[in-house]
Amino acid sequence: MFKKIVLLPGDGIGPEIMDAAEQIVNCIALEYGHQITCETQAIGGSAIDETGRPLPDETVKACEEADAILLGAVGGSKWESLPPSDRPEQGLLGLRKALGLFANVRPVKGFPPLLHASPLKEEVIKGSDILIVRELTSGLYFGEPRERREEGNAAIDTLYYNREEIERIVDYAFKSAQSRKKHLTSVDKANVLETSRLWREIVDEKSAEYPDVTVEHVLVDAAAMQLITQPNRFDVVVTENLFGDILSDEASVLTGSIGMLPSASLTQSGVGLYEPVHGSAPDIAGTGVANPLGMILSVALMFRHSFGLEEEARAIEQAVHNCLEEGYYTSDLHIQGGKCVQTDEMTRHVIEKLTSKSVSECILNTYA
Ligand code: IPM
Ligand code: MN
Repeated sequence: MFKKIVLLPGDGIGPEIMDAAEQIVNCIALEYGHQITCETQAIGGSAIDETGRPLPDETVKACEEADAILLGAVGGSKWESLPPSDRPEQGLLGLRKALGLFANVRPVKGFPPLLHASPLKEEVIKGSDILIVRELTSGLYFGEPRERREEGNAAIDTLYYNREEIERIVDYAFKSAQSRKKHLTSVDKANVLETSRLWREIVDEKSAEYPDVTVEHVLVDAAAMQLITQPNRFDVVVTENLFGDILSDEASVLTGSIGMLPSASLTQSGVGLYEPVHGSAPDIAGTGVANPLGMILSVALMFRHSFGLEEEARAIEQAVHNCLEEGYYTSDLHIQGGKCVQTDEMTRHVIEKLTSKSVSECILNTYA
């Protein structure tokens, strides 16, 4: 199989974890006989430093031509004083819109050796396996008008959704539920918001097309509560952009290891952008201690969702599991009786579990 990937390391620990991702991509390519080329482009704060803009045209063009995109992280205090429209985050938002990455998929599933670090009691979090499907290219993030009014003393953002935008994310969520436990929770605020009432109507209409999936509607405030009290009751959760942003951060800490969680942002055609859920962690950037596993598991999602290579995806996930089972962890985590390792050592252990080839072959291939 021949594929072209664009790497967007971004800011903070982004370049360090992207280095790990590239080694894993090359390791899988060698092991399974795929030809995968990687091209690095700028985004976020580092793109501002290089070109004056968080999303250079060249980056958009390369991403448009790619089969998949891997992103490290964007943002940092260095760029905080810039006006909102020039900040690193605009690079990511602009790319989501430019590519039509409407479906953000965040699997929230804990790793048994790490569950002791969950803020929840182990018996409450145990067995939880949630897939959050967040609408990513509309809603409050993009609605117009969005501006200051009354000489700067008032401000307006717009929560807009149309039928097509809701239908495609709801379809995606139903299909995901069909391949899992066949339960869909649609989260809204239909007791207050008109967009939520439209959302709810469409979910009910669509449910006729997916008779094997049970559907429930939960108000967002109640959903926030139930994620803490009964995380086990959820399978697939579908919701609009801002609710999804908030709920997915809430859900991600429940596993006790936010550094482990991957995410996928998908277009209708299957091209996707894959990134860890965690941010750029500027406080530890350059120290070599960042946890590469969220990024490495994002590579697994890329093989699964964009390339349809399930075996390769599972191999990566299994390798990560095995590393944890053997007690290897990075400084953001802790495993009793285990060994704390740095970014490059953790990556090496994952590679050793993926291939009989030497680690240096994978690294050599990376820099060839
Ligand atoms: C996320 C992030 C972004 C968002 C920021 C960086 C713009 O929090 O991917 O969840 O709010 O969507
Ligand atoms: Mn967020």
